[in-house]
Amino acid sequence: MNKKIKKILNKKNKSKIVCLTAYSKNIAEILDKYCDIVLVGDSLGSVLYSYKSTKEVTLQTMINHSKSVRLGVEKSLMIFDMPYNTYRNPKEALKNAKLVMRETKCDAVKLEGGKKIISIVKQLVKNKIPVMGHVGILPQTDKKFRFKGKKQKESEKILNDTKLLENAGVFSIVLECIEIKLSKKITEQIKVPTIGIGSSVNCDGQVLVIDDLIGLSQSKFKFVKKYVDMAKIIEGAVKRYKLEVLKKKFPKVKHSFKN
Ligand code: KIV
Repeated sequence: MNKKIKKILNKKNKSKIVCLTAYSKNIAEILDKYCDIVLVGDSLGSVLYSYKSTKEVTLQTMINHSKSVRLGVEKSLMIFDMPYNTYRNPKEALKNAKLVMRETKCDAVKLEGGKKIISIVKQLVKNKIPVMGHVGILPQTDKKFRFKGKKQKESEKILNDTKLLENAGVFSIVLECIEIKLSKKITEQIKVPTIGIGSSVNCDGQVLVIDDLIGLSQSKFKFVKKYVDMAKIIEGAVKRYKLEVLKKKFPKVKHSFKN
């Protein structure tokens, strides 16, 4: 088993797992110092391209961004989020996942879904491709984005999905916007680590979209915490640059070449 995956598994019930998304090298390099997992999420569709849905994200776009992220990630586990319609059956999933692993040198792939994708997960795992699961809100296929686990029937289905995914061989599962008591129950009942987003502190680890955390996106989701307002900081720098250019204060001689 991949040593980095072993390390993630060993953290269950010992220490929290830190995960963030990255879409390019410069950010990835910073995250690599602090994160256990760097996820190249298909959230890049809305974050970078203003797509209405992650359905529009292509495999090639994900591969391009992942190649950039790979340049910045050394120590963390790097996960590639398989985009919509690239894993509709075991054969298609295997072909695309093999291409992704070869082209991007990522350590694992992530797939959205429960019972419906079990044969696909099994096919990848059988072929030594490590898989992370993803249940709760499924941005690729859900029509409405509302938290999951409000009703008992839905909770039972999600809990069952996580058990099926575990049996199929996933090494970890993202829980997206899952009700507090349900995320606790899942985390207690499965052996692989759960990584929460909007799913409370009960999960074994947490993931957020990096642009939300640093204040570069306009995200208003309840579960997001903005740790810094980078949009403001960048705007301040650009304003100062403009002023200096207009007043001929930049560039100075030290920024210029002289014989
Ligand atoms: O696409 C993404 O960024 C994700 C995480 C938020 C879990 O799937």
